[in-house]
Amino acid sequence: MSGTRPIENLALIGFMGTGKSSVGRLVAQLLHFTYLDTDQVVECRAHKSISEIFEKDGEPTFRQWEQVIVEELIHRKTTVISTGGGLPINQGNLDSLKTHALVVCLWASADTIYERVRDHDHRPLLAELDPLAKIRELLSIREPYYRQADVLVNTERRSVREVAVQVIHQFHMAQAAYR
Ligand code: S3P
Repeated sequence: MSGTRPIENLALIGFMGTGKSSVGRLVAQLLHFTYLDTDQVVECRAHKSISEIFEKDGEPTFRQWEQVIVEELIHRKTTVISTGGGLPINQGNLDSLKTHALVVCLWASADTIYERVRDHDHRPLLAELDPLAKIRELLSIREPYYRQADVLVNTERRSVREVAVQVIHQFHMAQAAYR
């Protein structure tokens, strides 16, 4: 990697349950960066939970919120950006993040994701009779987008700290390469 691409921020993408929020918070703490979670910003702006937005306004409205927030991020510096799992499916969002951030995708298998999210009920897309089938379906649709990340990090059988340390290592390498 060499060139002049600015790496001001670090963006975490990946499917629900891959650990973007927990890894992102730790990475931000270790790098002394600001932590920003796009889901939290949407909820704050909309004054509603994500489940309420999906239920009352529909998924397209939620995706519009995400796009607006991504557009605003181009002005950020020293920020760890944790994104909602469907945000990079909008190619424009992915391209925009890459103009200022190293984009790191956290990866896990469908079975592992299912084990991690099965006891949570705040994800409207997984409120299905067969959540594992839904995870498999969404993962196969989304994989081509996730694979466009600068770096893919496997989170299987690894602690949050182990993943965070690898993410930071990749970030330092990218900053050095693009300097
Ligand atoms: C979504 C993932 C969620 C949240 C929303 C939609 C998705 O975020 O943005 O429920 O489309 O995968 P997490 O990935 O943080 O769970």
